[in-house]
Amino acid sequence: MTLRTILIHPDPRLKKVAAPVAEVTDDLRRLADDMLETMYDAPGIGLAAPQLGLSHRLIVMDCAKKEEDTPRPLALFNPEVIWSSEDRNVYEEGCLSIPEQYADVERPAEVRVRWLTPEGKTEEEHFSGLWATCVQHEIDHLNGKLFIDYLKPLKRQLITRKMEKLKREMARA
Ligand code: NI
Repeated sequence: MTLRTILIHPDPRLKKVAAPVAEVTDDLRRLADDMLETMYDAPGIGLAAPQLGLSHRLIVMDCAKKEEDTPRPLALFNPEVIWSSEDRNVYEEGCLSIPEQYADVERPAEVRVRWLTPEGKTEEEHFSGLWATCVQHEIDHLNGKLFIDYLKPLKRQLITRKMEKLKREMARA
């Protein structure tokens, strides 16, 4: 497995709508493994292919982050929210493409999601709690949307300027 480089906001590749996966190939299964490895290494609880500059509708996640929890790596191809609760929930979100910035985001508290597994089978699951927030955040990435897009313009601009500065510093290092 290979660790991949995660793009930092702002980057036009993070704003693109990703292409559906027509067939889960060996290459895409390998990519999903690399993404999980990269996510655990970061460390993070979710990662979407556009964050590596790749236009595929593929996300990985594992929200079992407490030490006593059993790891549950998931790779979801073409994930789709097929039902959302009217109940809403606020979580302080972060993003591996926006390091060290966190903000409250309100989303449906529970969602039902359908996707293709790495084996090419259709699966459906009802997510709640952190899993629900995470899967919605990652599916947003496939539609070119970041969690800061939910914030007020001023707060979003402040974070974007911090990221531009961070990228300049990283380029110099
Ligand atoms: Ni993110």
